[in-house]
Parts: sequence; C-alpha cells; structure tokens
Amino acid sequence: MNVYDSEQIEKLLAPSGYKINSSFEAADLIIVNTCAIREKAEQKVFSFLGRLADLKRKRPNLIIGVGGCVAQQEGKKIPERMPHVDLVFGTHAINRLPYLIEKIEAERCKLVDIEMSEVIEELESVIESSLDRSDPKVTSFVTIMRGCDNFCTYCVVPYVRGRETSRFPESIVNEVKCLVKSGVQEVTLLGQNVNSYGKKEKLNSFPQLLARVNEIDGLFRIRFTTSHPKDLSDDLVSAFKNMDKLCNHIHLPVQSGSNKILKKMNRKYSRELYLEKIDKLRNNCPDIAVTSDIIVGFPGETKADFEETLDLIKEVEFDGIFAFKYSDRPNVPAARFTNKIAEQEKKDRLQALLNLQECFTTKKNRALIGTNELVLVEGLSKKKVDRDDAQSKCRYVQWTGRTETNKVVNFIQDEGVIPGDRISKGKIVNVKIEKAYSHSLSGKSVQRFERRTKLCCLKLA
Ligand code: 5AD
Ligand code: SF4
Repeated sequence: MNVYDSEQIEKLLAPSGYKINSSFEAADLIIVNTCAIREKAEQKVFSFLGRLADLKRKRPNLIIGVGGCVAQQEGKKIPERMPHVDLVFGTHAINRLPYLIEKIEAERCKLVDIEMSEVIEELESVIESSLDRSDPKVTSFVTIMRGCDNFCTYCVVPYVRGRETSRFPESIVNEVKCLVKSGVQEVTLLGQNVNSYGKKEKLNSFPQLLARVNEIDGLFRIRFTTSHPKDLSDDLVSAFKNMDKLCNHIHLPVQSGSNKILKKMNRKYSRELYLEKIDKLRNNCPDIAVTSDIIVGFPGETKADFEETLDLIKEVEFDGIFAFKYSDRPNVPAARFTNKIAEQEKKDRLQALLNLQECFTTKKNRALIGTNELVLVEGLSKKKVDRDDAQSKCRYVQWTGRTETNKVVNFIQDEGVIPGDRISKGKIVNVKIEKAYSHSLSGKSVQRFERRTKLCCLKLA
C-alpha cells in the first residue's frame, strides 16, 4: 500500500515540476513515506530522518516532508522531535500534498495535516495524466479500498488508516484501463480486507469487481491482497476457477495456529475454520499457491500455543510465509495485555518457524523442476550467470519475472529463439525450470512466447 501511495505522490507532484531523483543529497524536496505496522519500521523512520538534519543545515531551502502511517500516528510530535521536518501529512492528506508543498515554498512555514475523512477523494485527473516514463512498468498496484474495520488487537492500521472505505468500481476499472494503456500487464488489487470490498457502500462485491477487471482487454494477470480468512467467500473461492486472468495464488494471513491466541488477537476465526477454507481453495483449484503471515510471541503465547502454529504450518504446507516477532504498537489493545514474551524467546521462536517453513518452500519449489512455467518478464536480473556449454564456460544475462503462483524465476534466453521473439520486459515467456532455491527458481526459456489466452482454452477444455 505504501508503494502505491508513493506512486500517487509522484504523480500528484509531477504537475508542480517535481521529478523522482535517485540521490536525496541533490533533491529540493524529500518525502519520507512511512510505515507504522511494527516497531522496527517506525524506528527506521526516525533514524533516517535524523540523518537528514545535516543536509537541511547545509541547504535550508530543502523541504522535508513525512507522510504515511507514522505521520498520521505522531502528527506534530514529529517536528517537535525533529525540527528540520517542514511538513507532516497523514494517510488521508495525500491529495492535498501539491497545495501543502506550494504553501511551504511560498511562505517557508511548517505544516501538519493529519485530518481524516470518511470518503475517498479520487485522483482521477492525476491518473489520466499518468507519468511519462522512459521505462514503463509491467506490474502495478491498484488500491481498491482504504482503512480497516477489523481491529485485530495487535494492529495499528485501523487507527492510522481509518475506517474501511471502498473506491467506486468505475474508478478502479478506469485506473486499470489507463495502466494497461501505458504497458502494465499485471495488476494487484489492494485492500486490508478485500473480501469486504463495497459491502458498506453497497457497491459491487469483490468477486463482481474482479469479474469487471477480468474483462479488461490487454490485461494479462490479476492478483489481490489481502484476504481475511473469516470473510473468504465461496464466490471468491470459485473465482480462482472461473476467471482466466486471476492468478492461482492467495495470501491468506493466519497469524497463529492456536485458537486461544486467535481469540486474543480478535481474528474471529478458529484454526479449524482456517483449515476448512484452505481445503475449499485446494479442492476448487488444486495448484493454488498459498502464502501467509504469522506473528510469533504474541502476549500470552505459551510454548504449547507456538507448537500449534508449527503444527498448522506442517498441515497446510504453505508456499511461503512472512513471519514477524510481535511488537507493541501505540494505543492498540494488545499493548496493554500481560504476559509479554521475552525478546530472546521471540527471536528463537521466529528462527524455529522460519527453519521449518524453509523445508516446505524448498520442497514446493523443487517439485517444479522439469516443468514449464509461464513467466511475465519484469526486467533483467541483477545477476549474470555462468553456465557450462558444450565446449566452454559462458556468461549469460538473466531475465527475471514471476510465475502465476507468484514465484520469482530468473532465466536465460534459449539460443534457438526466433528473432521476433527475443525476450524483453513485458513479454510472457515459457520457462523450463531447472533449479530450485528457497526463494526463487531458475531456468531457460524453451519455446515461442505464448499468450495466456491460449492456455486458458486448454484449461477450459
Ligand atoms: N507486531 C508484529 N507483527 C504485526 N503485524 C501487524 N501488526 C503487528 C505487530 N504489532 C503483521 C501481521 C500482518 C502483517 C502485515 O504484519 O502479521 O498480517
Ligand atoms: Fe490489521 Fe487485522 Fe485490519 Fe489486517 S485485518 S489491517 S491485521 S486490523
């Protein structure tokens, strides 16, 4: 979501003459878009801002702005603690940014805008005049809703992003169409809980929205994140089978395998219900990849509770997991819970969990060796590879992209390729998987490029 917001900021400031620059030392304006989800993310913000003090002393006309969740949470405490900060703008103030910057440029004043509203102001005009990029994007995020009403007891999101509000389906569809026109082939629809999209506002349901996006010509893939297990509907489960552009991957955060902890987290589902949903997904779409988020060391998590989480990981065999040590966030209910877990114990649990998951990730990746996977090329990989050919050792450039199941694949071009089919960013390539690692796959392109529509016919047959 922060990546998407940063892109919106870039688009909003383009008409005022601001352009992204790779070095912040030479910039006229520095915007730090912040995350408050865990303590570590917040610490990073303040250490980075601290480093900017010197720069501001040397160049007093430099404007420093802080946006996002930490800005929303801390408000005027930020310039009080860091006097070199000129602007603090909250999660709902992005649209007002051009005006705020203009005011600072003219009056050299300090501003704090953390007002929140219940409606989403559309950035339509900005979206239309999408940026003139020398290197167009192949994949893009699209926010479909903002905020969250779930109030999981550990989570700061409802406080810093506000109540759940959905965008109009027409605006979303228009935005995706604009992106497709500019070369985007894959969109990831974003929301804290996409399953409740449109419910409050009585708009389209999420599966209905997906169906509309699925019809957009020129779009190759659709992903979405995040889906809350309690709200995962049968309609959405069926969408994985019925919508040809929807990728067969779901990120379904479980957070814990212990019913006691799930209750204390206010997740509103049990371990059994979660497993039932996984069964439904796999019965409906056997090759679906499933990833998850897990928090270790939640207050009151005993060794037995943690063992239940490890058991759940063994039972589900996730394709991948993002795991985090619990950290207190300001004002959330869990911050006041007793029986906090010691830092070293949290570290040990995190390591044990990651070690266990690595076996499953590698096992799943290894199972793909020898198969052909359709990969959407996102660009050149940073690394070149050495390969032993018949007579000599050769260095090859590697391309990188993702499978439909969201696995990273680095691959080289097959020598026998037809000239018109040379690999480039945005092409869809059939790759034979030769090696599997814990976080990626590698291989070689094997045939002419095939559009997904051809495969889709195979699937229906
Ligand atoms: N401590 C640790 N992890 C957290 N997450 C959210 N809040 C916290 C917290 N206070 C994790 C959850 C969520 C992911 C985005 O971040 O696992 O799904
Ligand atoms: Fe936070 Fe829970 Fe909302 Fe996710 S569903 S953003 S974890 S409150």
